[in-house]
Amino acid sequence: MPTVIRDLMSTPPVQADGDDTLASVARRMADANIGSVIIADKGDVVGIVTERDLLRAAAVDRDPATEPARRWMTPSPDVLGPDEEAEVAWSSLSDHHYRHLPVMSGSDLVGVVSLRDLMGIARLRPADETSEEVPRGLEGVVVAETAVGDVRGLEGFFHYRQYSAVELATHRSLEDVWYLMAEGELPSREQSVAFGTQTAALRQIPPGLAAQLPALARLSQPLDVLRTAVSILGGELGWPPTHEGDEGALAEQALRLCAVVPTVLTATYRLQQGLDVVPPRTDLGYAANYLWMLTGAEPTAIQARALEQYLVLTIDHGFNSSTFTARVITSTGADLAAAICGAIGALSGPLHGGAPSRALDMLDTIGTPERAEAWVRNAVEHGERIMGFGHRVYKTDDPRSLFLRNVARQMEAPLVNFATQVEQTVVDVLAELKPGRRLYANVEFYAGVVMAACGIPRQMFTPTFASSRAIGWTAHVVEQAADNRLIRPAAHYVGPAPPQPVPALTPR
Ligand SMILES: CC(C)(COP(=O)(O)OP(=O)(O)OC[C@H]1O[C@@H](n2cnc3c(N)ncnc32)[C@H](O)[C@@H]1OP(=O)(O)O)[C@@H](O)C(=O)NCCC(=O)NCCS
Repeated sequence: MPTVIRDLMSTPPVQADGDDTLASVARRMADANIGSVIIADKGDVVGIVTERDLLRAAAVDRDPATEPARRWMTPSPDVLGPDEEAEVAWSSLSDHHYRHLPVMSGSDLVGVVSLRDLMGIARLRPADETSEEVPRGLEGVVVAETAVGDVRGLEGFFHYRQYSAVELATHRSLEDVWYLMAEGELPSREQSVAFGTQTAALRQIPPGLAAQLPALARLSQPLDVLRTAVSILGGELGWPPTHEGDEGALAEQALRLCAVVPTVLTATYRLQQGLDVVPPRTDLGYAANYLWMLTGAEPTAIQARALEQYLVLTIDHGFNSSTFTARVITSTGADLAAAICGAIGALSGPLHGGAPSRALDMLDTIGTPERAEAWVRNAVEHGERIMGFGHRVYKTDDPRSLFLRNVARQMEAPLVNFATQVEQTVVDVLAELKPGRRLYANVEFYAGVVMAACGIPRQMFTPTFASSRAIGWTAHVVEQAADNRLIRPAAHYVGPAPPQPVPALTPR
């Protein structure tokens, strides 16, 4: 279905009266972090004031405290309907050099759509046509087509294939959702059992890698060991470049990789703790076996299911940085191991997957609910980021965080009440100090609370995330390889104007 304006617009629209001053209009823009205000008279749209209009007024020294908005607005702006296709808005904005347009449903003003909103669905153009409008960090830029899944940030919804990920986490096992990602459809009961047996048999670490693991575990953290281990795995199992195009072989490599990742991670952790490695069991499901290999004890059914639900929720999430990295590497024709090593590297950063242990560290530092507000306020005022809050795509509650908060409550996780109080304080303080940024708890905030209650130590939080995300990464690698085109964008050069003469070396 084509994207329509309703999917993109900001709503509710911020309005002002024609007699309001430019200063008050500018304040409204700043408070809501938007670039335009609709001027309305008795419910009718009579104009629009944008940041450009504020600049025009400033350029001729008009006093914003007295200048009426009416004088600077674009009167009777073009309007769009909420059900019009985004392409229509694109031509309207680009042909007339507008940056913002009101959206009307009949006679009701329902939203505003901006060029920036449209960038979210725009395709990158060839280098000689690149526009300076491409947002920093490629925010919202569509770079590929995928049938793996997607995120609808404004709605707080994400899906794998055609199913709601939250519903999958509620009703299905990790293996079923893994099958869905790998095969493109949910398994029948028989297929599910067969897939469970097939993947459980792939859990053993191959001998070459197993022999290297103790030395690797002495050198670095579990996620870094995994990165190196995946490299060795690809070498040991002789994975060829994806460019060679054997789709069946690539799908088999993907299963092998995802099955062995938990074994590598948990073995690494135990080696680092001076404990015996616990080999995988084939009679346990993915999540229960993960906890078994990690702790050497069978988890309770509640713990195994809580972890399983966390793992299902974190398998995939649109074109996040690590998934994009995996696809870029695959697009060069490199092998699966190369793509996953790159993805693990991207995931390790605190702005992506490295936050859950930091979120729990923050709870420790805050200590008690009454200290939360002062601590958070001080941190934000000093320019710090609150770990486990904010998201590039979600501008409303992150559905994973809502789900995991419930999981944590149901399993009576020790930290859940305190975490809930801190969450509310952080959301309130951020709303006050960062108005209009729409910052809420993301997946990482309750992930740590749930994982801790499952008996997972903090240094294993991000590695555990990598374990489920490997299923998403490999689905994307397979998809990219099946219909590949080299991903090779362009950059805007901002250094000294070339060509400068190359200075001659001064004689010694
Ligand atoms: C996830 C994240 C990187 C998304 O960042 P982004 O889309 O690039 O957002 P921006 O960096 O443009 O931030 C927009 C504004 O919100 C603020 N902001 C975003 N997340 C914030 C946070 N966690 N704490 C405080 N302020 C935050 C930024 O300071 C910025 O304010 P400014 O307009 O005054 O400069 C960011 O929210 C973040 O750093 N969160 C903390 C780390 C985390 O939880 N990571 C796990 C992600 S699942």
